[in-house]
Amino acid sequence: MNIAMKTVTRFRHSSESAPRPPSRAPALSPNPHSALRTPHSLRRRFAWRLSVAVILVAAAFSPALPSSLHAAPVFQGADTLLRPKNYREWVFVGSSIGLEYSPEADKQKSGKSEYKNVYINPAAYRQFAKTGRFPEGTILVLETASSETKNEPGLQGSFQKEFIGLSAAVKDRKRFKEGWAYFRFSEGAGKLKPSAKPAEKSACYDCHRDKGATDHVFTQFYPVLRAAPANKP
Ligand code: HEC
Repeated sequence: MNIAMKTVTRFRHSSESAPRPPSRAPALSPNPHSALRTPHSLRRRFAWRLSVAVILVAAAFSPALPSSLHAAPVFQGADTLLRPKNYREWVFVGSSIGLEYSPEADKQKSGKSEYKNVYINPAAYRQFAKTGRFPEGTILVLETASSETKNEPGLQGSFQKEFIGLSAAVKDRKRFKEGWAYFRFSEGAGKLKPSAKPAEKSACYDCHRDKGATDHVFTQFYPVLRAAPANKP
């Protein structure tokens, strides 16, 4: 925008400092189409067009990016996390089906397995890709989906049917003394709350601290994060 404004000013200046034709006031001019007026108004018109063009070009290259690229956790009060919006525009880091830590290793699952899709806010992804560390303000969202299995002639396999749950992990040392806090937005039957309080430490944090491969995060299950440049030799 600065460039555009400078250009406008420069052109105004140059057109004003140009010698003014005596017939500038139209009412006094004997001939409104006087040849003397033409270069002046042409210059003005050109200056206007040029400055509009400069403004348009400046706007096209301005650093205004889609807001999801700057997504960060949004809190209400001390520790209530608002349910993230547009997380499906973030970086998708991995998905799993029926994955869970369970004492019964070969338990036959009666119900259908859930899919889990995990996303990270793009700003945190960029830092992680550079440094291999999750910065303050990292937010990861885990969305669960029901599964459906097809087993018919010509079509077999499993796919994600409906989204059924949402939770989030946030790194914020100033707010949470453990560094990470965990939030569950699911309210049963596919319903989601607009905001959530941090879950009990024993309900979420402990397992993440003990079993997550990188700073409480389950990077062992996220190929996109393992493939990030900082993790490559
Ligand atoms: C017994 C272990 C365990 C407990 C307890 C647990 N999680 Fe997780 N969590 C996992 C595993 C394993 C993953 C990897 C993703 C997957 O399952 O596909 C994960 C992933 C996540 C992620 C994605 C980001 C990350 O840290 O990897 C979020 C968000 C999450 N869990 C939230 C929660 C919340 C909220 C709770 C408590 C209500 C919770 N978790 C409790 C094991 C656990």
